[in-house]
Amino acid sequence: MTIPLPDLTPLENTLWLTLAGKALDYRAEHPILRDRTAYDLAAKLDLDTARFKLSASPVVGIAHRSLVMDDIVRRFVAGRPDAVGLDLGAGLDTRVHRVDPPPTVDWYDVDLPGVAEARRLLLPERPHAHVIGRDLNDPGWLDGVPSDRPAVIVADGLIGFLSREELAGLLDRLIRHFPAGEICFNGYTRFHVWAARKYPGTQSVAPFLKSPGFDTPQDIERLEPRLKLVREIFLTREPEVARYPWTTRLASRLTSWSTSLSRKGTAVQHYRF
Ligand SMILES: C[S@@+](CC[C@H](N)C(=O)[O-])C[C@H]1O[C@@H](n2cnc3c(N)ncnc32)[C@H](O)[C@@H]1O
Repeated sequence: MTIPLPDLTPLENTLWLTLAGKALDYRAEHPILRDRTAYDLAAKLDLDTARFKLSASPVVGIAHRSLVMDDIVRRFVAGRPDAVGLDLGAGLDTRVHRVDPPPTVDWYDVDLPGVAEARRLLLPERPHAHVIGRDLNDPGWLDGVPSDRPAVIVADGLIGFLSREELAGLLDRLIRHFPAGEICFNGYTRFHVWAARKYPGTQSVAPFLKSPGFDTPQDIERLEPRLKLVREIFLTREPEVARYPWTTRLASRLTSWSTSLSRKGTAVQHYRF
């Protein structure tokens, strides 16, 4: 069966890489994220996951960082059931379904217009979950989002696509809009930006990377001083490493002792404001 999809721009097409990663994780011997919806969607769309040439390491990286961000959202909404949740650059990810927040939480998946249209066509609706089809660099995209409630904000696989100025502008808009909140994202260091341009598995996204790379969480705090680091979470030191395929598990165990080597893997940076 052919499913009609809107024409996506090259930047919007970056969503397939992470969808492929989550679908491959679901099929792994010991899945990390266990995202059945991602797997079903990839199968329904006949997504050729092999074309991304993803080895085990980026697959677990994509799945594991999403799991870590899901947990941050779960903890936040458990304490603040009046929260607003935002997934920035949501792609076709279904975090709100995985996290399943209480109905008192309003959730916003934000992505470019073509992706928003694809979400409406492909993903199940859910009460209190909304889709915003706007460029995050547009100043007005937050206009319809409540501004009197605490926010938990996720940017999973997004910030590499924003220039320094765009990231600063986005953080400023978010912090000015909400009274308080938390934000988390996977960090892109200068090493990640360099490696993504070289590694065969990231060639589908490499041309769209605009971030200069931020080597430490303090670089982000300097960019936006109202952000205070809660924790930098190195995936190499998380318990789920025990479920990695053995080569990736070994590499993670060997590098976990070193902050600088762990940062060269995947780290999730978690801030409050
Ligand atoms: C690598 S995908 C990640 C998708 C999803 N978060 C996931 O984990 O599967 C990056 C997403 O960011 C979106 N994106 C990039 N720049 C954007 C912008 N300026 N405004 C809105 N969305 C953007 C792309 O359209 C794409 O869906």
